[in-house]
Amino acid sequence: MRERIRNNELLKKVVSPEEAAALIKDDMNIATSGFTPSGYPKAVPLALAKRVETSGEKLKINLLTGASVGDELDGALSRAGVIAKRYPYQTNESLRLAINSGEVLYSDIHLSHMAQQVRYGFYGKIDIAIIEAVAITEDGHIIPSTSVGNSPTFVQEAEKVIVEVNTGQPLELEGIHDIYIPEDPPNRQPIPIIKADDRIGTTYIPCGVDKIEAVVITDIKDNVRPLAPIDEISERMAGHLIEFLENEVAHGRLPKNLLPLQSGVGSVANAVLGGLVKSNFENLDFYSEVIQDSVFDLIDADKIRIASGTSLTPSENGLIRFYRNINRYRGKIILRPQEISNNPEVARRLGSIAMNTAIEVDIYGNVNSTNIMGSRMMNGIGGSGDFARNAFLTVFLTQSTAKNGDISTIVPMVSHVDHTEHDIDVIVTEQGVADLRALAPRERAKVIIENCAHPDYKPLLWDYFNRAVKQTGKHTPHILQEAFSWHVRFLETGTMKIKK
Ligand code: COA
Repeated sequence: MRERIRNNELLKKVVSPEEAAALIKDDMNIATSGFTPSGYPKAVPLALAKRVETSGEKLKINLLTGASVGDELDGALSRAGVIAKRYPYQTNESLRLAINSGEVLYSDIHLSHMAQQVRYGFYGKIDIAIIEAVAITEDGHIIPSTSVGNSPTFVQEAEKVIVEVNTGQPLELEGIHDIYIPEDPPNRQPIPIIKADDRIGTTYIPCGVDKIEAVVITDIKDNVRPLAPIDEISERMAGHLIEFLENEVAHGRLPKNLLPLQSGVGSVANAVLGGLVKSNFENLDFYSEVIQDSVFDLIDADKIRIASGTSLTPSENGLIRFYRNINRYRGKIILRPQEISNNPEVARRLGSIAMNTAIEVDIYGNVNSTNIMGSRMMNGIGGSGDFARNAFLTVFLTQSTAKNGDISTIVPMVSHVDHTEHDIDVIVTEQGVADLRALAPRERAKVIIENCAHPDYKPLLWDYFNRAVKQTGKHTPHILQEAFSWHVRFLETGTMKIKK
C-alpha cells in the first residue's frame, strides 16, 4: 500500500467506506470525481446509500460531478432518495427516472463552464469532495484515475476531501494527466495550449495532507457501458462524413491530416472514428473529452499523433485492452481537467472538428440533443455545446428516424433547442450530408430535407416547407400551429408516419 499512499500521516487516515460516508450530512454539497462512467468514487456512495436505506434517515445532498458517473454513485444514491439536486450531466437510468418524475432537480450545464462557476461560488460551499485516485503522493497530492473532470477545482474549493484509492486502477496511469487550473477573470491569462499534445500543468491534483480527512481503499472497477456493435446505419453515417472530409481536403479547406477531432459519446461517435481507421487519413490529432475504443484502434493503426481528453471511456473489452497495453497507449493519451479539454478558447485556437449526435434536427438546422419530445430529459448537453459553438467545423449526426422508423428525426421545428442554426455547419444522417455553410434558412431547409430526411418523411416535410413559404414568405418560413402539431401527432397516435 505504500506505493499507493506515500505519506505516513495519510496511512493513519485510512478508514472503512462506512466511516467515510458518516462524514456526509443532510443538505451538504458533495462534489465528486468522475466523467462518463470513469474514475468516479464507488465504495463511499454505496456505503452512504446503504446507511440511508437501512436506517430510514432523512438525508438529501446536492451532487456535483464532472459528467455522468456509474450506477454505484448516481444509481445507488437516486434509488435511496438521497439526491436533491444534480449537476452537470448524467446518463443513469434510475436517476433519469427520478429527474423526469420531478423527484430530483437537474441543472444541465456546459461541461467547460462548471469549474469556474464552482470557484465563483454559484453552487454554494463545497462541503466534501470525494475523489478516486490511483495514488496519493508524499505531499498529499492526488493522482487521479481514469478521468480528471472537475476534480482539481472540487479539491481546491472543498472544505474536506475524501480520497478513494482504487487498487483496481493501474498505477501506470500516473503521468497520463495534465492538471491546470486557469486564473479567473479579470486575471485570466491565455491558456498556453497551441497544439493538442502540449502539456501545461502537473501530473497530480494539488491537495496537501491536511485537507484530506479520510482515505478509503477499494478495488471496484469502473462500471463502463457496453458499446453497441457498429451497425450498417452508423457505418453509412461514418462513410458520408469521411467522404465529406476527404472532399474538404481536396478543396484545400482542411489540411491533409484534418484538424483536431472532437467526438461525442456513444455508438455513432465510435463508428465515425472507426471509419477513420479504414480511411487514408494519417497523423491525426484528437482534442476531445472522451476517449473511446476506436481511439485505441487508431493508435494501433498508427494513425493518431495524440489523443487529448478528460476521460477514458472504453467499453468493458476496451478497458481490458487498455490495461493490457497500457504502456503503448499511455504515451499517446493526455487527460486534462474538463474546463481545459472542452475549453472554447482552445477549441477556437486549434480549430476543432466537432462531431456530436443529435436527438432531432429541424429543417433550418437547429438541434435538440437533450429533451425527447421537448420535455423528457435524456442525458444532457454534455460537452456538445462547448465544441459546437467554437469549432472550426461543427457536425451533428443522427439516424434519420428513431423508434424503428416511427419518428422522423428531421422535423419542421425542434421541440427543444440546444444548438442553434448559427452554430451548425453540417448535418449527417444515413441518407446523406447537408452542408449548411453560407446558406440562408430557406436554402438550408432544401438541402436538409433533400439530403438527410428519410424517404418516408420527405413528402411530409416538403409539403410543410412549401406551404410555409407560400403562406408566410418570411425569412424563416413556419406555420406555427403545424410545426407544433408535428410532435403532438406522435403523442396522440404513437406514430408520425403518414397514413397511406
Ligand atoms: N424522438 C424520440 N425518441 C428519440 C429520438 C427522437 N427524435 N431520437 C432518439 N430517441 C430515443 C431513441 O429511440 C433511444 O431510446 P431508447 O433509449 O428508449 O432506446 C434514445 O432516444 C437514445 O437514442 P440513440 O439512438 O440510442 O442515441 P445515442 O445513444 O446515439 O445518443 C444522444 C444520442 C443525443 C441521446 C446522445 O448523443 C447525447 O446524450 N448527446 C448529448 C450529449 C453530447 O452530445 N455529448 C457529446 C460530448 S460528450
